[in-house]
Amino acid sequence: RDFSKRFPKNFLWGGATAANQIEGAYLTDNKGLTIADILPGGKIRLEWLMEERPLEILADTHTYPNHVGIDHYTHYKEDIALFAEMGFQCYRFSISWARIFPTGEEQQPNEAGLAFYDSLIDEMLKYGIEPVVTISHFEMPLHLAKKYKGWQSRELISLFERYCDVLFTRFGDRVKYWMTFNEINSAFMMPLMSLGFSTSGNNFQNPKIFQALHHQFVASSLAVKLAKQKMPECQIGCMMIAAPFYPYSCDPKDILYAYEIERIWNYFCSDVQVRGKYPAFIERHLFENGIDIDIKPGDLALLAEHTVDYIALSYYNSCTEKYPTGNENRVGGNMMSGVENPYLPTSEWGWEIDPTGLRVSLNQIYNRYEKPLFIVENGLGAVDTVNPDGSIEDDYRISYLHSHLIAASESIKDGVDLMGYTMWGCIDLVSASTGQMSKRYGFIYVDKQDDGTGTFARSKKKSFDWYKTVLQTNGESL
Ligand code: BG6
Repeated sequence: RDFSKRFPKNFLWGGATAANQIEGAYLTDNKGLTIADILPGGKIRLEWLMEERPLEILADTHTYPNHVGIDHYTHYKEDIALFAEMGFQCYRFSISWARIFPTGEEQQPNEAGLAFYDSLIDEMLKYGIEPVVTISHFEMPLHLAKKYKGWQSRELISLFERYCDVLFTRFGDRVKYWMTFNEINSAFMMPLMSLGFSTSGNNFQNPKIFQALHHQFVASSLAVKLAKQKMPECQIGCMMIAAPFYPYSCDPKDILYAYEIERIWNYFCSDVQVRGKYPAFIERHLFENGIDIDIKPGDLALLAEHTVDYIALSYYNSCTEKYPTGNENRVGGNMMSGVENPYLPTSEWGWEIDPTGLRVSLNQIYNRYEKPLFIVENGLGAVDTVNPDGSIEDDYRISYLHSHLIAASESIKDGVDLMGYTMWGCIDLVSASTGQMSKRYGFIYVDKQDDGTGTFARSKKKSFDWYKTVLQTNGESL
């Protein structure tokens, strides 16, 4: 191996977004409503994601920033041109299920929706940008959530299969990289977004969550099967939130507690999707919590036979866990979070910043599965200030990304097979958890504010040129 280089040749550099957070045009060209369309803007969204609320748009009292997003639906050519200017070799985006099947139940797909993604993909290919597609990123057709309670129902498996079939048939000649469900393990924290229903109480003990996940596992395996039949050269992955769980102290009670939380949060879903079977620790967990999942004949054989090619992951923060005594200060984080770690600074949204945790996580995951890994989300949500001359000096973002990319390159030297890196929110977008525009991630600023004002004009932040140089030098400028 060449230890003198930070990243291998052919490393896929790029950025990532999701349809519901950028496209807007929420009813244009026959698109149906999605779960994201009923999520209000502002910090109130977090309550909606954690409690049972009506699956309706309440326009008298709430705002709905996803309805307009950053109007990527009409600005996509300009956006792709900016990505190309930075030197992206790939771009991860998601397809909105409800643009293709507005209710999820139609027999025939919506041609206008397919045509939009045709143009988007062709625009990328024009610049030599490899499309990386997330099939389902927190944007299930609302109708399926209402009629079937989302993934609680087995009906969704065949509907999802039909959706995948249409995507593979239409785009399979141009798209090589796919992933099935965004952050599948987010089910335990925000089931409304990932599974299409809300819960209350402890999700680790909720049979509905495990049943819905089982349906997603089966659907994901069927997608892998179909993808390989239709596109033998394709690469199809799972997608997980990754975080190492540090024990708060060397007290064995803390160590065991952190370990037990970590294996459910971090590894349960990927064990099924990568190894093709339910891990033994989950069998015990289900038994001890009196949870009986309905597994149909053939399901387990399907899971075993159609495992994923690679593991895509998001990384924002590490987690620290302590055997509960009731006095812990819990901190925020991207869904998975724990007690306060006194060694780590936090972002303006209270997420702990820990580049070393990325190196630890990549090593742990790779050593467990020995499959290629793909960092498809990593970034910093921060408030950006536009100077009077229009410039934006986002040195804090550069510093965050710099340290995480160094950690990624160290993991490659450790032996991790890392395929690529797509920075999350390469263009400012609507935050998934809070619906805010002011929680900005991008290299590209979008003039769209929390109060709904703004022109949608795009401008480059300081980090734009910084990332361009990173890409030009394949990471040697770091
Ligand atoms: C991940 C999601 O959870 O984190 C993205 O896949 C999301 O959709 C990202 O935007 C950052 O989270 P947030 O809440 O800051 O938007």
